[in-house]
Amino acid sequence: MQVLVTGGAGYIGSHAVQRLLAGGHDVTVIDNLSRGNRSAIDRLAERHDPSGDRLRFVEADVGDRPIVDAVLRDAKPDAVLHFAALAYVGESVHQPLRYWRANTSASIELLDACLDAGVERFIFSSTCASYGEPSPERIPIGEDCPQHPINPYGRSKLAFERALFDAGEAQKLTGKAFACAALRYFNVAGSDRTGLIGESHDPETHLIPILLQVALGQRERVTVFGTDYDTPDGTCVRDYVHVEDLIDAHLAVLGKLEAGDVRTYNLGIGKGSSVREMIEATRRVTGHAIPTEDGPRREGDPPTLFADPSKIEREIGWRASITDLDEIIESAWRWFREHPRGYAS
Ligand code: UFG
Repeated sequence: MQVLVTGGAGYIGSHAVQRLLAGGHDVTVIDNLSRGNRSAIDRLAERHDPSGDRLRFVEADVGDRPIVDAVLRDAKPDAVLHFAALAYVGESVHQPLRYWRANTSASIELLDACLDAGVERFIFSSTCASYGEPSPERIPIGEDCPQHPINPYGRSKLAFERALFDAGEAQKLTGKAFACAALRYFNVAGSDRTGLIGESHDPETHLIPILLQVALGQRERVTVFGTDYDTPDGTCVRDYVHVEDLIDAHLAVLGKLEAGDVRTYNLGIGKGSSVREMIEATRRVTGHAIPTEDGPRREGDPPTLFADPSKIEREIGWRASITDLDEIIESAWRWFREHPRGYAS
């Protein structure tokens, strides 16, 4: 299969590229490198494509129509996996239009180009942030949970999800062979267990990388954002799904998509872990004390988010294989230990 991966130099996208290449597929990556790492592509090429003919990298924005048109003409992809996005909730509050431009406008431009080029399968990285703050009786969160995002990040993702579904339905009306899916990720975590690529954000705001930076002595302590939530230990509860499982889910969905499909699935393990549980697990895995301090709540953090992943299991046959917190953190720890300064080391 020939696959176009947008955002393939980023954390999640690079894990998709690794899985596709290892599975014998050919990959074209489009990434503007605003958040991605060129070194991830170089490492993947070195390991999986020594002859240099199965992985092509194009440094461009997915909203750059002439370039995207040319890439689609050349690559003629059987499927597009659209990861490219901005994904910092806090940043989105301060720079909303940047998020609408990157996550909504540029994605619409990409989709339009894909439809013009006759792409038949399109998978979009959506987010549980599109659900906003579901009421307690809606947890665990099913796909039918009302979507009321509470920040520009969630709204910009949801807007494209709706555009994608409208386009999918319209393609069906005209009898075109098009299928699409929006996969709503919960908290993606961990790293490639072979140690080739990993999680590397700048700036870093995610809990596991911050805990591991404390373990490495790069930060003195972690601040627990809120200890008075209505949760078992007062800290926020999230559903941490391993990045390799998440990518397997994409391939499983891709394999089941048929012309006319417009699908939605939640991707999580179906179990919530609190911030305190994450800290404990990191202590166990790293053997480091991980000093903490209690801080105020972070704006826009819902108390509890975890998935009901039964729909994807029922319809596609996928379920997370790595559900042990320690194992998830161990894979992330390996990357951080071996690459204490991310791709710069
Ligand atoms: N947290 C801390 N201290 C920190 C960092 C995080 O206590 O230094 C807490 C947060 O308050 C939250 C939990 O750890 O309760 C997880 O925080 P992350 O920033 O790792 O992840 P989020 O749940 O905020 O965000 C993730 C994705 C987003 C996505 C969101 C949907 O990173 O892209 O889930 O809720 F939008």
